[in-house]
Amino acid sequence: MSTMTTTATDLQELDLLIRSIQVSRILGLVADLNVADKVPANGQIKIHDLATACAVHAEPMVRILRGLAAFQIFQVSMDGAVSHTSRSLPLRTDVPDSRHHAALFWNGRGLWETYGKLDVAMTGGIPHEAAWEMNRFAYLRQHPDEARIFDAHMTTFPDRLPAIAAAYDFSRAKVIADIGGGNGGLLREILSRFPTPRGIVFDRKDVIDSLTSEHLLQGRISGQSGSFFDQIPDSADIYMLTWILHDWSDEDCVRILRACRKAMGSHSRLLIGEDILEIDPARAAAMAYVDIQMMAMFGSARIRSEQEFRNLLDESGFSTLRIIPTSAPISLIEAIIKPDA
Ligand SMILES: C[S@@+](CC[C@H](N)C(=O)[O-])C[C@H]1O[C@@H](n2cnc3c(N)ncnc32)[C@H](O)[C@@H]1O
Repeated sequence: MSTMTTTATDLQELDLLIRSIQVSRILGLVADLNVADKVPANGQIKIHDLATACAVHAEPMVRILRGLAAFQIFQVSMDGAVSHTSRSLPLRTDVPDSRHHAALFWNGRGLWETYGKLDVAMTGGIPHEAAWEMNRFAYLRQHPDEARIFDAHMTTFPDRLPAIAAAYDFSRAKVIADIGGGNGGLLREILSRFPTPRGIVFDRKDVIDSLTSEHLLQGRISGQSGSFFDQIPDSADIYMLTWILHDWSDEDCVRILRACRKAMGSHSRLLIGEDILEIDPARAAAMAYVDIQMMAMFGSARIRSEQEFRNLLDESGFSTLRIIPTSAPISLIEAIIKPDA
């Protein structure tokens, strides 16, 4: 027998974690119904009016909101008035750092079915492929609604994009190419701080085809589609790869990096934006969950250490110049083509 004592609090917290599927599912439902936008930011709404606005019944609505209120997400009074709390406000779509798309993303069918197959990862399989018989990006191409939620979710990670834009001097670049840049959120952030550069956002065809002139800053950014395993736009001064390599195995990372090297001029710089294992030990728990997400979606893809990035870059013909921490849990790895590569 162990000499450790399990307290009542340990048990309560464990019970909540075991059933956390309920909370996640309710948050997804509430985001689907856009509940947070329908509750006044400063005021309250009667549950019947809220249910009518969401075209649902009042009784199940109050039941799910009470579940969230147990975590201080919304407040539900005894007489059925719903108001916001500091935790429910980020579920609105009109606030900075909105978690609306995060709640939708984590409730996408692509994810749920994948996590139902998590066990196959334990013996070297890829849960997403076991669930869907295709890789994640092929799935997103076939499910545009989930794909656009994914693109939007990528741009709403707390402080990540402004932190990258603030951590590096982009002022001397004429052209910045964001490879796998999604809907261009990072470029918009960088270009809003630096008046000179133009941007190229390069991504899969369905992602680029979905971009509006607002996404492309009325022409200051151009969208180009293709695969970063094949051909990447040439002649940019800075090439960004943000949260790309963590989606791929070492072999695939080397293929992507070599395609970048081929596109780059001798003056070009490569900036890789990634969570790096040992830079921020305080974030170890959060990183563990990003890492598990990579395992579920992509198998041998993973969060890497500084040395692992240096090795990948070396193998692909790059010299690592420096690692630049940002104010967010993401670092920039600056590299140039090796003179002899
Ligand atoms: C995790 S997201 C990162 C998006 C963005 N860089 C960011 O940091 O928010 C990975 C991106 O890689 C893109 N992608 C996946 N496979 C690709 C390929 N073969 N060629 C180009 N882009 C690809 C996806 O569409 C997606 O936008």
